[in-house]
Amino acid sequence: MKKKKIGFELLIFDDASELSQNEQKLLRHAAAARQDAYAPYSKFKVGAAVLLENGEVVIGNNQENASYPSGLCAERVAIFHAGAKYPGMPVKAIAISASSSKEADGEPAAPCGNCRQSIIEYEQKQKSPISLLLSSETGPIYKCNSTADILPLAFNSSFLGDS
Ligand code: THU
Repeated sequence: MKKKKIGFELLIFDDASELSQNEQKLLRHAAAARQDAYAPYSKFKVGAAVLLENGEVVIGNNQENASYPSGLCAERVAIFHAGAKYPGMPVKAIAISASSSKEADGEPAAPCGNCRQSIIEYEQKQKSPISLLLSSETGPIYKCNSTADILPLAFNSSFLGDS
């Protein structure tokens, strides 16, 4: 038997002022997008802002539905919006801003598994990492340099072979 430890570097910022100007701006876009989320069922609003290689910022927010599974998370609305508006333009970073909850104990909300998988698809397509900035209304900001870091052993197109 062999063992392999899989880990990653998580950067924790106690205050947005510790981030670069561009990162602060991206977080502001995500927080503004959160305000416009359509979340009448969960009341949990999330905004996301995607920074593209050409400097454009594309936003998304969660869009819920009376048929609950038909809704979509902010991250996927944003990255699909970017793919539709700027096809083939590499994505550099995504900032996420979620409602705060007391139960989270100050931890920023992290993207769900489906969103991680969807973002990794673009990392693989563009062959470069997409960094993530995770924030809630209050509390620290988490940064990871690649989305693949937070979904180890992700499924990808290579497993499909030529099927
Ligand atoms: N949600 C997001 O938009 N992003 C996440 O990373 C986690 C959850 C949304 C989906 C749903 O509208 C609400 O938050 C509660 O799950």
